Amino acid sequence: MRLCINIDHIATLRQARGGSVPDPIEGARICENAGADGIVCHLREDRRHINDRDVRLLRKTVTTKLDLEMAATDEIIRIALVVVPELVTLVPEKRMELTTEGGLDVVAQRPSLTEAIRKFHDKGILVSLFVDPENDQVEASREVGADMVEIHTGDYANAAIPAEVHSMLRNVEAIAALGKKLGMGVNAGHGLDYVNVRPVANISAIDEMSIGHSIISRAVMVGLNQAVKEMIAAVATSVPYR
Ligand code: PXP
Repeated sequence: MRLCINIDHIATLRQARGGSVPDPIEGARICENAGADGIVCHLREDRRHINDRDVRLLRKTVTTKLDLEMAATDEIIRIALVVVPELVTLVPEKRMELTTEGGLDVVAQRPSLTEAIRKFHDKGILVSLFVDPENDQVEASREVGADMVEIHTGDYANAAIPAEVHSMLRNVEAIAALGKKLGMGVNAGHGLDYVNVRPVANISAIDEMSIGHSIISRAVMVGLNQAVKEMIAAVATSVPYR
């Protein structure tokens, strides 16, 4: 299972003082050297953390894989088509949210997503759609031409009661299998930490995970290199949920 690291919150810390440190470009290099399989960043419309300069430089410096998370708005699509990351992950975006709150409603946005995905494919960019773990959203993702889906694990991560955790996990597993059956790649992410990642890493239909906040938080305590290595170790010691 591949681990891609979302470095948005290195930029969040930089923006707290409006200066130039910590630099997400340097952070991306440390993540790659520590063994990350890819770097993810979210260029939000309000540029609250990652900015245009970051994306441009990351394109030049990331040597594994750059996954640009973005809303499918005209402005950000234009930027992505110039930057040409290996992958774009399309997410819904709300101005007041603290983080991405839910999956894309692919079912309701078929025509616009089909059109956006065509533009990316014309440039050789793969497209992943961030969706809630629901059958119809995954089926619609296939119909609009997505190469992969990223299953939203936020509800699983927030579940508190063991029975609820179990049922959320089983659902993620079933949805991942559906994505695979439909011929798509399957990623997962949101709210994953050093503990709850392990049963998700045990789901064989999931190819890749996208993790940010928990790793950057741990990095504040132990350093980024160590925080990434600890997550790689957690993924490698995946366990079925009991
Ligand atoms: N995947 C997507 C689509 C996201 O929007 C985010 C949050 O930026 C993540 C993964 C990573 O979530 P977290 O920071 O909770 O690990």
